[in-house]
Amino acid sequence: MSAPLLSRRKLLQHSLLLSGSLAATRAFADGWPALPQSDLSAVELAKDEAYWRLVSAFYKKTDGIVNLEHGYWGKMALPVEQSYIELTKMVNHQLSFYARKDWYGDSKDSVNAVAESLAVPPEEIALTRNATEAMHNLLFQYKGIKPGDSLMWADIDYPAFQRTMAALAEQRGATGVEINLPAQASKQQLLEVYQDKIRSTANLKLMILTHASNQHGLILPVAEIAAFAKQHGVDVICDCAQSWGLIDFTLPELNVDWAVFNLHKWIGSPVGVGALYMRKGTLDKVAPYPGETDPDNTLVHKRVHMATSNFAAFLAVPDAIRFHNRVGPAAKMARLKYLRERWVSKARNMPHIEVLGATDDASASGMGGFRLAGQTSREQVNQLQKRLENVFGVFTVGRHDLASGSCIRVTPQVFTTLKDIDALVDALASLA
Ligand SMILES: Cc1ncc(COP(=O)(O)O)c(C=O)c1O
Repeated sequence: MSAPLLSRRKLLQHSLLLSGSLAATRAFADGWPALPQSDLSAVELAKDEAYWRLVSAFYKKTDGIVNLEHGYWGKMALPVEQSYIELTKMVNHQLSFYARKDWYGDSKDSVNAVAESLAVPPEEIALTRNATEAMHNLLFQYKGIKPGDSLMWADIDYPAFQRTMAALAEQRGATGVEINLPAQASKQQLLEVYQDKIRSTANLKLMILTHASNQHGLILPVAEIAAFAKQHGVDVICDCAQSWGLIDFTLPELNVDWAVFNLHKWIGSPVGVGALYMRKGTLDKVAPYPGETDPDNTLVHKRVHMATSNFAAFLAVPDAIRFHNRVGPAAKMARLKYLRERWVSKARNMPHIEVLGATDDASASGMGGFRLAGQTSREQVNQLQKRLENVFGVFTVGRHDLASGSCIRVTPQVFTTLKDIDALVDALASLA
């Protein structure tokens, strides 16, 4: 795979010297070697080692460790990395002459690629620098919170967002309501917990729902919870930072008015790219960014003020999405779930291990969590993380915000091998 990439790079450098243009970079991206088309279903393709060997040839591996901590951010595939490098050079060479004249037009390609991939109109998408920025825009510019209202979040939500919700409630004289979900749960159980809490909370105004938890990869039944919340007059923000690309979905399936994303985890863009989704007709509830104006409440991008940002990272978005689509979103989700199932199915039979999160397929993703039975403290889990790393050569991360206690998060990637997963299984068996 590396030889053709090199010759294309030379070609690109040549064409960039000639033109210095974005079009030349895009032309390079179009010349990627193809991944074979397969007639297999996503679930069958998930087990096709030859296919995933071809996919993994598009990535450089981490040396010296079995890295099962891919939930922090995602590795760019080599063609995306190459495109990003060339785009960085182009922006750096052309500078303000590029940014003043062409950036705005070119950035629309990235908005369109995001919108197309999520199956919503581009007018409903704004780019941001990360999911946090999009979440802050929604929360702090949301107009509806009065003293006495309630704001809701759950222990499986992104910890920083839990704290932001608590701070927002305090600022506005509202009541913060936290849901503690069971350590293990199915889709139906999750739905019931949320329904009970929504029903029993007075003056509930706004809640966040995390599509895929960063703690143990649990998937919430967002569409069902959001429909129930809507019936009760509650506004919902869906956090898709960890879900887009980890699982295969489009926004209409989630049935939410507002959602936040990043592309630097599972879409494989350069670091520094996020997105905000606001459904048409809902913008009057969220003020424009302070100082911006949008008299008709139709412009999502007026909710964000990105200032000077990493132009090249945003320009690489269409290439990242194209590569993601080449691998195949359904196949990627199925492969990652297959890798989780490989260690979880064995760990469930080890009495000294407690597997956390999903108990059914609908609530599972490729990300998972576990702890040593009964060892729930931060110190115990941090020690376990060190032991896995130093004794067994398996890199993971401790997560500490579940109501049931701390856990180790295990996150494979599309280039993770069965051997990597088996190294974890062997380590788990040795912990008895
Ligand atoms: C569930 C979840 N939400 C939000 C975020 C924040 O994403 P970003 O760093 O792009 O703002 C993360 C990052 O790990 C996450 O896992």
